Amino acid sequence: MDKLLVNAGPIAHMAGEGPIIGKILNSTDYVHPGGLAILISDFKISKIAESGEMLSEYTDVEVIDLEGKAVVPGLVDSHTHLLWAGDRSREVGWKQQGMTYRDIAENGGGIAATVLPTREASDSQLAHLGVERMREALRNGTTHMEAKSGYGLDTESELRLLSIAENLAAIENLPSLDLTWLGAHSAPPCRALDDYYEEILSEQLPAVIEQGVARSADVFCEPGWFTIEQTEEILRSSKRGGLDLRLHIDEFVDGGGGDLAAELQVTTADHAHYTSDETRTKMNEAGVNCGFLPGTPYAMGAEYPPFNHCSENSWAWSIASDFNPNCRTLSLPFIGSILVQRNDVSPIATLAACTRNSAETTPHPSGLKHGQIIEGGIANLNIVDGPHWESWCLQPGHSPFAATMIEGNMIYH
Ligand code: NIG
Ligand code: FE
Repeated sequence: MDKLLVNAGPIAHMAGEGPIIGKILNSTDYVHPGGLAILISDFKISKIAESGEMLSEYTDVEVIDLEGKAVVPGLVDSHTHLLWAGDRSREVGWKQQGMTYRDIAENGGGIAATVLPTREASDSQLAHLGVERMREALRNGTTHMEAKSGYGLDTESELRLLSIAENLAAIENLPSLDLTWLGAHSAPPCRALDDYYEEILSEQLPAVIEQGVARSADVFCEPGWFTIEQTEEILRSSKRGGLDLRLHIDEFVDGGGGDLAAELQVTTADHAHYTSDETRTKMNEAGVNCGFLPGTPYAMGAEYPPFNHCSENSWAWSIASDFNPNCRTLSLPFIGSILVQRNDVSPIATLAACTRNSAETTPHPSGLKHGQIIEGGIANLNIVDGPHWESWCLQPGHSPFAATMIEGNMIYH
């Protein structure tokens, strides 16, 4: 039976083609005033019109009264490290003693420290962790997430992580997944990076391509991890194998990864924290999205990158959680609060960054539009627990949502 959501408060619909770029001068361009109804047929939004009209036109439907609550699109988390086991909480003390991320990695912490417990965990333990994390993401309004491998770091373990994630992607009433192979994340424990790099090219990447589960490839391109030359080689081979390209660049320093991102026209270059304006311009001209991950500087106690600068220069940009053992949040509303309440970015630009803009880099498996509330789009949306759409990012530590509709099913929180 079709569902009719009536008496909506303001609907931040975010409708349009491509990412929203430039300063959003008037948020009402992206917000319908209250009083509308949304008709859901199966997993699609089929009509948006005035509540009274819709109630008289559609009688054989399940009516859900939103009682003036605001509505925003399902959030799209375009960068997560979903599957790993273990706990790196002890590293916070090392950080507070002045160790950098690189010092920690060189002293037995960091990515390699997550690899051993991940390899030791059974398939069902990892699947359970994945489901719990996807539930938490959904509770915070995420309806679709990109999910990377990257804590197996040998061929068998990387294929295993991707195949567990593929099974998770098939579970209904949880966020859908877009899978990325990140075998080039770090050197595995007790192994030289150059040696592992050779194995990636000769064995792991061909096996990932043959397995056919990952849609994209990603590399941690940063001084101390994969070099520009190694990254280029891995990404060119990935592209030949039919994978879409993403990158981790400039998390700690301006390491030149942004120029490579532009040259290879990758879909999104993430972190992009210390990237120069000249390179950001090149990236934008090449159609590369700038994917900020504000949870990482939050977790590391670092300053934030220049979010508003992107709007001022009309560069395409997005935000994502970067959920990983060093940044353990799955809440995009919390990430949104960092921008709005700590960095003077408007609530509407921030919402665009994790809905319409992130959806551009992270397509929905149905092929339908998401990250927007439009007729013909997938029925993924959030009912804010209050009458003001802005409150989606003003409640750090709490989910602002009363319910989330995912592919036409309403999940009450
Ligand atoms: O995007 N920096 C590379 N990868 C992750 C962190 C991985 C980890 O510390 O386990 C990131 O921040
Ligand atoms: Fe990451």
